[in-house]
Amino acid sequence: GHVHLADYRAPAWRVSLAELEFELDPAATVVAARLHLSPDADQPGQPLELDGEGLELLSISVDGQSLPAGRFVYDGHRLTVHGLSGDCELATRVRIHPENNTRLEGLYRSGSLLLTQCEAQGFRRITFMADRPDVMPRWRIVLRANREAFPVLLANGNPLASQDLGDGRHEATWENPHPTPAYLFAIAAGPLERVSRQLRTAEGRDVEINVWAEPSDVPRCQYALGAVERALRWDEKRFGRCYDLDVFNVVAAQDFTMGAMENKGLNIFNARYILADEATATDADFLAIESVVAHEYLHNWSGNRVTLRDWFQLSLKEGLTVFRDTEFSADLHSRALKRIEVVRLLRARQFAEDAGALAHPVRPARYKEISNFYTLTIYEKGAEIIRVLHTLVGEETFRAGMDRYFAENDGKAATLEDFIDAHAQASGRDLSGFARWYAQAGTPTVSIAADFDEASGDYTLTIDQATPPTPGQPDKQPLVIPLRYVLYDAQGAVISAAPEADAPVRDGLVELSQARHVLRWRGLRGKPLPAFNQGFAAPVKLQFDYGVDELARLARLERDAFNRWDLIQQLASEALLGDADAEAATGALSDALADLLADAGADPAFVAECLALPDFDTLAEQVAEVDVQGLVGRREELLDRLAEDQVERLQSRYESLAAAAREGLSGQAMSARALRNACLSWLTRLDPEARLARAQFDAGGTMTERIVALRCLLHFRAPGAESALAAFREAHATDPLVTDKWIGLVATRPHPEALDDVRGLMASTWWKPANPNRVRALVGSLARSNPLAFHRRDGGGYQLVASQVAALDPVNPQVAARLLGAFESWRRWASPQRDQAREALVSLQGRLQSPDGRDLLERLLD
Ligand code: ARG
Ligand code: ZN
Repeated sequence: GHVHLADYRAPAWRVSLAELEFELDPAATVVAARLHLSPDADQPGQPLELDGEGLELLSISVDGQSLPAGRFVYDGHRLTVHGLSGDCELATRVRIHPENNTRLEGLYRSGSLLLTQCEAQGFRRITFMADRPDVMPRWRIVLRANREAFPVLLANGNPLASQDLGDGRHEATWENPHPTPAYLFAIAAGPLERVSRQLRTAEGRDVEINVWAEPSDVPRCQYALGAVERALRWDEKRFGRCYDLDVFNVVAAQDFTMGAMENKGLNIFNARYILADEATATDADFLAIESVVAHEYLHNWSGNRVTLRDWFQLSLKEGLTVFRDTEFSADLHSRALKRIEVVRLLRARQFAEDAGALAHPVRPARYKEISNFYTLTIYEKGAEIIRVLHTLVGEETFRAGMDRYFAENDGKAATLEDFIDAHAQASGRDLSGFARWYAQAGTPTVSIAADFDEASGDYTLTIDQATPPTPGQPDKQPLVIPLRYVLYDAQGAVISAAPEADAPVRDGLVELSQARHVLRWRGLRGKPLPAFNQGFAAPVKLQFDYGVDELARLARLERDAFNRWDLIQQLASEALLGDADAEAATGALSDALADLLADAGADPAFVAECLALPDFDTLAEQVAEVDVQGLVGRREELLDRLAEDQVERLQSRYESLAAAAREGLSGQAMSARALRNACLSWLTRLDPEARLARAQFDAGGTMTERIVALRCLLHFRAPGAESALAAFREAHATDPLVTDKWIGLVATRPHPEALDDVRGLMASTWWKPANPNRVRALVGSLARSNPLAFHRRDGGGYQLVASQVAALDPVNPQVAARLLGAFESWRRWASPQRDQAREALVSLQGRLQSPDGRDLLERLLD
């Protein structure tokens, strides 16, 4: 059945202190737990109910007295204890088996390490607990293990003591003094080594930061260590938040289902978001590492100090923390480029989610399996809603609202209402209309019609908003949308006069809140040219009927860099999807790109973003029915044509940026490499011999340069591609992260036959179904980033992915469920694909055992 938001009840029992002792062993670990319990004064006489999933119960006692069999029931999921009243101590001992834990939830083995992942409901696989975020004990954790196999023993909080036990074992005691829910519990044990840094917080606390990895990976931890320090300093400066323990530990794990986890004082990461040097990581990897490290660090306040009342509030920590980490990256690097990156992801993936079978509000009203709600909607749209609030109230008032939120909710389990209340108080605004963003699924469309009266010079914008129906939500209400606008006159100057309006207007920003608003300017000298949604201040689709000439003119006029990029994207969409004016749009796009390539003053990385046309997912999202082969074919044709138009300029930028590209990890060097690589990709289209790509591959250089050269060789099937691949494969054979890179290139070769290569790899020793990164690199890349192979006309792509979902469901249900999500838009695929997709999904019915898989399949077929 479903869990409903409306059914929330406070816990009947509180846990003030959790004392845990682990006898760590991969085959069989014994966990002794002592929970200090007190009944909720408002709900006396309730039985104690604790979560516990598949635990082998060895002993149970209360206040030192062993419990007789009649006083408790354990059904494999839940432990119920009767006849307790008043404060008491429950002691249990259980046995668990980390080595057999392939789902990577709870305590599991990764190589020679023992690690945990508890969010959302993994702690119950370790020992009995009220495994819900509003139960927040303080913690004391003792770890015992063989010293040789597990020389390092880490847990949440501060290290308290350690000792040798004389029999080959040793012991470490940790104390986490902050009230912390079980989903933030963590331990890590094994032959870990570290890089380390001492610093003093703005409040004067001395902190040791450690980044831990298996010994051979330690040299690649330096960059992540620096990123921790940058995040810590930034949160002090921008939000006034300091770190609150004596140590901050970070551990890199090769087997990890998600990106990373913000456990109190002991963040555990997928190794791909920690390990980096120039020989093995791309520039994009470095930036992703910095942003994920910051994300997890920033959770220490937005998530840990202030946690969640229940899982319906998930976006309260995730949306807010994504907002914070994107601000961090924008402050440290280029704000415009960060915005472009975020909006690309939003349009390609979140808009599709919001329009597909799995659409749900940022705060869902019900769920069956919470693991299925770690979505782009909760994270990315959640962050966009915070940005809407930030735009409505401005930075200073936003900061005051955040200060208030942290002060009022510190040490508590909060709700989105608590967050909105704090901002309402700080801003003096009624935010009840704004709150609707959290309840309503679907991407709003803002359609704007313009009318100019030549005689009077009156210019009228009629602005309509509408949100389409989504599963379970047929009717939608208008939202509060801050819409920026600019009017340009015939000379390209900004018209500064404010309009008459039936909505609040200030400084080029109108606050929409009704289905329709009208803005009117009186007595303009000529028909103006409007531009909207500068900086993408609201996550909406904007419709305005521009002519191609107007788009082209605006792409030159707009002051806002994000919008200049967006106008070029619109020209490209028009060239690909427009009927009548496709040819005109292609010409205008080509001219605009020529100007950009010739502009030595423009940031090369920005030019590279403009050369990157909307991807398949973004285009597919804009059409009613998706003709996959047609869409990909048109996109390839357009790219060929543009490359031909620009060939000299591409060559000259490629050469002129060579020296700048050699300057290590500086922003300028990264920017130069970004444009050089974009030029290389386009130039390779025109040269069947792929000479430039081969030269770049052979020259060595950074991973950024090698991997793009290899992609060009493989994807354009150049002579020598196979030998280059073999050389790359051998050079990195012992590195699973770099191996994932070439596997991803093979799986995304834009050709239906890539499916056969994927099958081949699945029959090889490279296939490691228990390793989530490998599954994503091979099957995830096929399903999410190779339209021609996934949507192959014979239905083979769907069959392969569906059979992998079935095979992985018992191994790692979360990984399997993620793959299944690739079918979210299946109802919009043109036949025969739609029927083949339905067939593949129907073939899974009755074959999935996990709640994750069953819930998704049901929603997909509903
Ligand atoms: N809280 C983690 C983060 O965003 C992600 C945890 C994901 N867990 C899950 N069961 N899906 O930083
Ligand atoms: Zn997070």
